[in-house]
Amino acid sequence: MQELLLEIAEAAAGSPDKGNVATYIPELAGVDPDQFGIAVALEDGRLLTAGDADVPFSIQSVSKVFALALALGRVGDQLWYRVGREPSGLSFDSILLLEREDGIPRNPFINAGALVTTDTYLAESNPREALGELLRFIRAAADDDSIHINERVAQSEIATGHRNFSLAHYLASHGNMRSAVDKVLGTYCHQCAIEMTCRQLALAGRFLIDADDMPPLVAVQRRRRINALMMTCGHYDGSGDFAFRVGLPGKSGVGGGILVISPGRASIAVWSPGLNRYGNSKLGTEAMETFAKRMGWSVFG
Ligand code: DON
Repeated sequence: MQELLLEIAEAAAGSPDKGNVATYIPELAGVDPDQFGIAVALEDGRLLTAGDADVPFSIQSVSKVFALALALGRVGDQLWYRVGREPSGLSFDSILLLEREDGIPRNPFINAGALVTTDTYLAESNPREALGELLRFIRAAADDDSIHINERVAQSEIATGHRNFSLAHYLASHGNMRSAVDKVLGTYCHQCAIEMTCRQLALAGRFLIDADDMPPLVAVQRRRRINALMMTCGHYDGSGDFAFRVGLPGKSGVGGGILVISPGRASIAVWSPGLNRYGNSKLGTEAMETFAKRMGWSVFG
């Protein structure tokens, strides 16, 4: 497996088309697209890496997996009255279906749904406390207290997040926001601005694979459901394509990171900042396609 990872990192370095770095968050626009990292945290505790696996990147929407786990921990199945469990078939920041579907977002991974998730774990507490709790969850999962939020990235997104503010106001107009829009947006943007390396992210994802030595951060059924949502909704309108090509649940972020789970086997983090047309890491997806195929790993047997 180590040789395969080195081979994949080498192929990525030589790739002529690395996709396009996200520019709508100004602080992310300057990230060097020639970076690629991959880390595999195995069920038995071993960790293998290749490339820039120790370079921190903005996890962005990958944070929605941890936020969902935290929100479910707070309110359990009550969450599903406020957000659905179906793929949207639209881009991550689309507002289209919200009008037709009375302010109930399709799933917790599109931005509208993630804003509801953030509002749920924010609950009555203040953003600092809520983010502290989210960081504690991620740090416990990764067993790494150095994981932090990049304040510059958070401010950059707050300053330019007109579309997310629109989504939040639209949700509020349907009575699907408990806290003030500014408070929810501030918390959401800080959540997305968490920085992690591939090594840290792969370790943090181990709570979704049923590893022997992990503290049980979520119950079995909840872990399975989060994986199901990652498979069906984790790549937005590219989710079907990711399932077809990789065959494993995954969650992407516009920072170019992807967290992929092979249930019972491994948690994998891959990162390459250039994105494809769906806003998911281009080389990250290609790397996972090669990795899953060569390992023979798929949830489809
Ligand atoms: O809300 C946003 O637009 C970003 N903070 C996160 C979007 C994102 O990562 C979409 N993923 N591919």
